[in-house]
Amino acid sequence: MDAKPVVTLVDDAAALAETAALAIVDAATEAVAAGRRFSFVLAGGGTPRDTYARLAAPPFSERMPWDRTSVFFGDERCVPPDHPESNYHMANETLLSKVPIPLDGIFRMRGEAENPEEAAVDYARTLSTVFATPRGGLPRFDFVLLGMGLDGHTASLFPGSPAVKEIFRTVVAVHAAAATIPQRLTLTMPPINAAARIMFLVAGAEKAKVVKAILRDGATLPAGVVRPTNGALTWLVDRAAAGLLSPDDIGHR
Ligand code: 6PG
Repeated sequence: MDAKPVVTLVDDAAALAETAALAIVDAATEAVAAGRRFSFVLAGGGTPRDTYARLAAPPFSERMPWDRTSVFFGDERCVPPDHPESNYHMANETLLSKVPIPLDGIFRMRGEAENPEEAAVDYARTLSTVFATPRGGLPRFDFVLLGMGLDGHTASLFPGSPAVKEIFRTVVAVHAAAATIPQRLTLTMPPINAAARIMFLVAGAEKAKVVKAILRDGATLPAGVVRPTNGALTWLVDRAAAGLLSPDDIGHR
């Protein structure tokens, strides 16, 4: 059954980072207590920076089971990992280089690959291996962080892109003409929606219109199509991004 999204309102970007970091630590603690590694998909862009910085500092850094955590990426720009626009670069600068996560617990998308299509196939193969999924099966991530662009894109699934409707491949290469770095690798909807927990991080008044379009008006933009088939979905929005929502739009929907 598709879970209904929970819309959680926080005061500002700092509160959003704190709330997200706590949710991640709680999910990690729960996974490890259940005898599993914690599988965590990082979002790119700018909004998650503060959350990663909170995770990299006490008390959260001390509570996270880093040796039992596997980190994946929701998408990656097709640039080298040390490029300022690389999502890996941002995550490494703010989090991964600051915590004792074993290198074999970090599964990077190879944005530097000459052939993005091959890099997408490689990453899909990695997911199949790590999750030991049968052919055609899906990984079940414990926690997927997502951001949302002003056009309602999420990961690198952009409005009108065939990738939004991809149902067979778990990872694809896309060319998003409107994006700062057009060539990208991205998870598709099936592995995202197969996750146990999905959390959108959305902050800033510039996002208020698209937040209303999706959460109030039901726009089926890519971020609005994210709906876990058997998991929990939380939209964590700050007051500025929730500026066009009504009180009825907040909480359990
Ligand atoms: C990327 C992200 C993308 C991002 C949104 C929001 O690679 O750019 O995966 O989906 O989450 O564009 O970005 P901001 O958080 O910077 O607004």
